[in-house]
Amino acid sequence: MITEPTILLVEPTHYDVSYSINPWMDPLRWAADPHGMHRGALRAFAELRDALQAAGFGLEIVAGEPGLPDMVFPANAAVVLDGRALLARFRYPQRQGEEAPFARIFAELRERGLLDDVATLANGCYQEGAGDCIWDAVRGHFWAGFGPRSARCAADAVGAYFGREVVALELATAQSYHLDVCFCPLAGGEILYYPPAFTEAALRELHARLPASQRIEASADDLRHFSVNAVNLHDRIVMARTTPRLRDALGKRGYRVHEVDLAPFMLSGGGAYCMTLRLDRSTSMRQGSGMAGDEAAGGQPAVAAA
Ligand code: ARG
Repeated sequence: MITEPTILLVEPTHYDVSYSINPWMDPLRWAADPHGMHRGALRAFAELRDALQAAGFGLEIVAGEPGLPDMVFPANAAVVLDGRALLARFRYPQRQGEEAPFARIFAELRERGLLDDVATLANGCYQEGAGDCIWDAVRGHFWAGFGPRSARCAADAVGAYFGREVVALELATAQSYHLDVCFCPLAGGEILYYPPAFTEAALRELHARLPASQRIEASADDLRHFSVNAVNLHDRIVMARTTPRLRDALGKRGYRVHEVDLAPFMLSGGGAYCMTLRLDRSTSMRQGSGMAGDEAAGGQPAVAAA
């Protein structure tokens, strides 16, 4: 397995917005200027790639496939932990065609020694990868979103495969159709989240596990900017262009935010996190978060990770 912070990206050569399976997707706007939009997507992808590299990630960049535009969102392709990958089962036919090419991509990663094991879920148990199942390196468990895309049963399947606790949170709105749209654990232990995206039961569960000091509430405007859909490594955060309020709030907590213009991908309902998949997530990662204040926390290296 790979231990350095490493991200899988899928080239946007075949990216477009030609159907709509979430309320952000706007095929008509894409169709008004497909060439301009495509050029914009290539530019945005290059900018994201450079920002991730600058933040300290190694990159594995693979090709997408014609007719499968949403392959550019590999967060949905699998859940990965400790060198083991559990491949996704997509809810909508428009994305189910991605399962075969992603299975080939992951088989190749295993052959190259970047992964040790690749498994598949039972048919019919929808689970849309790390977009709906987010590893919390500080608390040592998964948070799983269910409802619009992934099924409740998937949380148990993920728990059984990885042998780790999975805390399931029901998503209440079509707008936050994946957990990663409205929920982002950060290296310092805070969680950036949008409360109205969750059912009351999910919020109770979340608040029971999260002291108020670690809650960073996103606004509706932050959500629209895809600011919660962020990639974090130590004190670095890569996200789409955000709001002054959130930029400021994260800065005050010691995070350095690198903003990228991801408009062509937001037109498909995706931001920075969706376009990435961490291949190195590990239960044994017990390194300092790199956040200011680590040392002050009792002289111990903070129990936090990438
Ligand atoms: N158009 C894609 C879909 O609706 C966007 C996926 C974004 N991925 C994510 N993890 N939120 O499936």
